[in-house]
Amino acid sequence: MSEPHVPALNVRGVAVYPGLLDRAAQEALAEAVRGIVQAAPLFRPVTARGREMSVRMTSAGSVGWVSDRRGYRYEPRHPSGVDWPPIPPEVLAVWRRVSGDAADPDCCLVNFYDEGAKMGMHQDRDEADVSHPVVSISLGDEALFRIGNRERGGKTESLWLRSGDVLVMGGDARLLHHGIDRVKPGTSTLLREGGRLNLTLRVAL
Ligand code: SIN
Ligand code: MN
Repeated sequence: MSEPHVPALNVRGVAVYPGLLDRAAQEALAEAVRGIVQAAPLFRPVTARGREMSVRMTSAGSVGWVSDRRGYRYEPRHPSGVDWPPIPPEVLAVWRRVSGDAADPDCCLVNFYDEGAKMGMHQDRDEADVSHPVVSISLGDEALFRIGNRERGGKTESLWLRSGDVLVMGGDARLLHHGIDRVKPGTSTLLREGGRLNLTLRVAL
């Protein structure tokens, strides 16, 4: 596939492609996510300490990311016991366009944020080999994304992610802390019921 035509913004080494995906591409991805959710319904993960996350999740790929009282990990099946569905081709195409990675991802985590949902600052570090980047796709309502440092704490920078924006965390930016402070309801017409979807692609195993 061709190189991304939208110039990347560099925020602490995170490559941000604002509006990389046009409306038709966003609609195709939203439809692909509906297929994932039909096969592997969204669930609300619980942290090891027993706190329910406000974000609902599911995955596609040979493994999916789960969290429960046993902690965070990749699992070959959805908590209900069904296989995760395959990563849809439209989603893989975005990875191949921006990741610069020779391998394909084996996990597409789907995060759904309804009003009030957020995600605390964390690192993506449950993967076996963090030399592979993370590619993240935003669909639906706008979200305030915060980027910090490798270590916990310190100064952070925030940016609004809008429907169709894509970002890549690779190289020195791969292990930066990041999170979603809030989602602004009613800022996108992409998802019929509103809310925000984030697709996070990773080489997990
Ligand atoms: C995540 O870090 O898992 C999600 C980030 C986002 O929702 O944009
Ligand atoms: Mn993350």
